[in-house]
Amino acid sequence: MAGAEPAAAGGNQGGSAAAKDAFIASLMQRMTLDEKIGQLRLISIGADMPQPRLIEEIAAGRVGGTFNSVTRADNRPLQDAAVQRSRLKIPIFFAYDVVHGHRTAFPISLGLAASWDMDVVERSARVSAIEASADGLDMTFAPMVDISRDPRWGRTSEGFGEDPYLVSQCARASVRGFQGSSPARADSVTAVVKHFALYGAVEGGRDYNTVDMSPLRMFQDYLPPYRAGIDAGAGGVMIALNSINGVPATSNRWLLRDLLRGQWGFHGVTVSDHGAIEELMRHGVARDGREAARLAIDAGVDMSMHDSLYLKELPALVRSGEVPVARIDEAVREVLGVKYDMGLFQDPYRRIGSARDDPPDVDAEGRLHRAEARDAARRSLVLLENRQRTLPLARGGTVALVGPLADAPIDILGSWSAAAKARQSVTLLQGMREALAGRGSVVYARGANVTDDERVVNYLNFLNWDKPEVVQDKRPPQQMIDEAVEAARGADVVVAAVGESRGMSHEASSRTSLSLPGSQLALLQALKATGKPLVVVLMNGRPLDLNWAKGNADALLETWYAGTEGGHAIADVLFGDYNPAGKLPVSFPRSVGQIPTYYNHLRLGRPFTPGKPPNYTSQYFEEESGPLYPFGYGLSYTDFALSGITLSATTMPRQGSIEASVTVKNTGTRDGETVVQLYLRDEAASVVRPVKELKDFRKIALKAGESRQVRFMLDEDRLKFFNDRLDYVAEPGEFTVQVGLDSQAVRARTFTLLR
Ligand code: NOJ
Repeated sequence: MAGAEPAAAGGNQGGSAAAKDAFIASLMQRMTLDEKIGQLRLISIGADMPQPRLIEEIAAGRVGGTFNSVTRADNRPLQDAAVQRSRLKIPIFFAYDVVHGHRTAFPISLGLAASWDMDVVERSARVSAIEASADGLDMTFAPMVDISRDPRWGRTSEGFGEDPYLVSQCARASVRGFQGSSPARADSVTAVVKHFALYGAVEGGRDYNTVDMSPLRMFQDYLPPYRAGIDAGAGGVMIALNSINGVPATSNRWLLRDLLRGQWGFHGVTVSDHGAIEELMRHGVARDGREAARLAIDAGVDMSMHDSLYLKELPALVRSGEVPVARIDEAVREVLGVKYDMGLFQDPYRRIGSARDDPPDVDAEGRLHRAEARDAARRSLVLLENRQRTLPLARGGTVALVGPLADAPIDILGSWSAAAKARQSVTLLQGMREALAGRGSVVYARGANVTDDERVVNYLNFLNWDKPEVVQDKRPPQQMIDEAVEAARGADVVVAAVGESRGMSHEASSRTSLSLPGSQLALLQALKATGKPLVVVLMNGRPLDLNWAKGNADALLETWYAGTEGGHAIADVLFGDYNPAGKLPVSFPRSVGQIPTYYNHLRLGRPFTPGKPPNYTSQYFEEESGPLYPFGYGLSYTDFALSGITLSATTMPRQGSIEASVTVKNTGTRDGETVVQLYLRDEAASVVRPVKELKDFRKIALKAGESRQVRFMLDEDRLKFFNDRLDYVAEPGEFTVQVGLDSQAVRARTFTLLR
């Protein structure tokens, strides 16, 4: 892994927790109330105030940290103001949304999860930290670990999917990657797990909507990933914008005090989301700004992002006794604590460095991590269909490459591409041309715009990009389709890159439909009618309605938004230089009406059972039941077979364990990788339990013809769940172990947990 550990770094300044506490206590003794409140402000660069004023605010001790600046040269004067001009010289920190890469864009988080490869998740975060810290950044607002079971929600793209176990593993790997062996390292950034909590469960998948959820579901399914990130040592937690069972997260004492600090023992800083304290008035729980500030500080919101109220309201609230100064102190202690852990008191310029060392290449071309990004991107691709082994494509012929996403340097970067530059990304067109290197040709036609709806274009261009990025081809849709058909007729095979522009899978981009927008489906249908083999390459940040493609495409490859090196990675798979092994981290529904379609749903009294009469069972009568593509699904250019699933025993004593083993064989003619997945079903418990739950997985590489035994250790902890008193328990009785290469096609064995 890039980035050797500097000898002097690692651990906190002064080493022990006692030294840290003493340092902070002594500093706080010297702070005025105004200086303390100043530490609680997190300022949005560019949005909150002009730079000269920001510098004065920092010098006056009225800023704790900033976010949205991305170069050392930008950050240096701000830190100068803090440590040279402010009375107590307390350094500020610099944060940014480094979600799936910084200068180099990695695949979106949903794609990273599709790799089912925690080394890839960790490495992408490590590289992001190396690049971000080299730009003077100390903190990232990531990982985003909201479980998402509703693909209408645009932020599905930002998370790691629908499954508590897989998302928790990704959360852990991400935090490890961002923070490295210590957040004090010069090449680490402090991870801020978000959005606490349950943001992915907004009603109807409509962003910023309400969340109403039973405690059982919360504890069982939605809370574990945040906990995993925190247990991995994340220095911060960002509080969600939604309300939870009637109380906004931002004013939720139960959430932030009882659960996060109390039960989970979180030590670190909590930050509000953008403007969320002010939004308490719009939620209707605060009459005015004063009450909003009081509710937030009281609940446990340490820092106010894009602050408008803490600075204004807290001084008077403290003076009147409505907010005890002890509460302010608690928050300040956490802010100073996170700065201490970042090593900023030791060296405020730890990540900013000195001007003479500033990198001359503003675009960071020489500092990109292209090899790592290409590797991660290849691993994130999921092969959904491959009839008659259409893929991999042979070199030598003519490929018609069509579709609005075939040559889309911005979209391929994905929705939170931080400081990545479109001019540095590799589009599919470029990747395929390079892959052919003269051995065959590519004919390109755009074929369609992503959408034909001007209103949608205007909306997407209104999102917070620097400049309008959805640029329409003004030709009528049919004319573009005709041109693409013409190209297809003259080719041996058609590759169609379709999906969504990145802004469609983004914050504030919820959809009522999962269809391919605009005339893209018509384009695919016209291409199919040419009789040429049709390879559909999807670029999107959420499950889409793939009914037509599933039935008609000769091959279907889900590529998410694959990042800076996306075009190379996709071409590697299309031409067989890499054998795809990704698996879906989220179920793909058949239709919007079927949502939610997550695989680990609770058992029912009247379940629909395939092969049995459907009457009076839980299903939609006019559509087939179950997902179009199940969680955990993905093909390879080779075939794998599972056999000989065995358990080391049929009973497990208390505190004991059982080993499940299975033989996996690569029965095809190519080397390849697959993901062996272990699910568990509790056959009878005191509360209704899911039909199955992922408990472990192993990604393995097998040469053609090779077999291997894969072993999983199951102990009592893996059998635990939250009962109706929210105790985390394993109850005696029967359990079924299911092992498969996706969540549906599984082989099962049963054992009993003894009393
Ligand atoms: C709002 C988003 O909800 C959050 O994820 C992000 O970190 C902040 N804006 C800062 O950009």
